[in-house]
Amino acid sequence: MLEWLLVPLAYLTGSVSSAIIVCRMMGLADPRENGSGNPGATNVMRIGGKKAAAITLAGDALKGLIPVLLAKTLGVDSLILSFVVFAAFLGHLYPVFFGFKGGKGVATSLGVTLGVAWPLGLAVALTWFAVYKVGKISSLSALVAATLAPFYVWLIVGDVNLIVVFVLISLILLWRHKSNIQRLLAGKEF
Ligand code: G3P
Repeated sequence: MLEWLLVPLAYLTGSVSSAIIVCRMMGLADPRENGSGNPGATNVMRIGGKKAAAITLAGDALKGLIPVLLAKTLGVDSLILSFVVFAAFLGHLYPVFFGFKGGKGVATSLGVTLGVAWPLGLAVALTWFAVYKVGKISSLSALVAATLAPFYVWLIVGDVNLIVVFVLISLILLWRHKSNIQRLLAGKEF
C-alpha cells in the first residue's frame, strides 16, 4: 500500500520546472513570457541557446526517469507504475510549484519511457531525431514521436496498463501542442 506514495512523489518531482529554474539560474528571460511562452527545452533554446536547452532537456527527462526507476526498483506492479508515469507527466504540465502552469511534457515523457524500458525510450528518441533531421521543427518531431509512442509501448512492453497510460499521455501531448499544430498547418512553425 505504501508503494502508492510513489504517485504523489512522482507528481512533485514532475512539478520541478527545469526551464524556469535553468533560466533563473543562468540569468535568462522567463520562458513563460518569451518565445513560444512554453517552459520547455525548445523555448529555452530560443531564449538562451544550446547549453541552457540541453540542461533543461536533461532535467525534465530526469524528473520523469527517476521516479519510474525508483518504482521499478521497489518492484511495484504495472498499475502503480502506470500511475507513477502519469503523475510525473502531469506534474510537468501542472506544476504545484509554479502556479499549475507548466509545459507540454515532451522531455518528461521521454524520461518516463526510458525508465519503463530503455529500448522504448530509445525508439521514442530516435523517432524524434529522425523527424527533426528531416523537418528541423521540434514540435513536429514531438507530435510524430508522441503519436508512435503507444505503438512502441505495445510492441516493446506489451502491458495493458502502460499502453492505456501512454495513449492518454499521447492524446494530452497532442492537445497541448494545438497552437503548434495550427502554426504547422499554416506553415508558420519554425
Ligand atoms: O517540447 C515542446 C515542443 O514540442 C514545442 O515547443 O516552444 O515550440 O512550443 P514550443
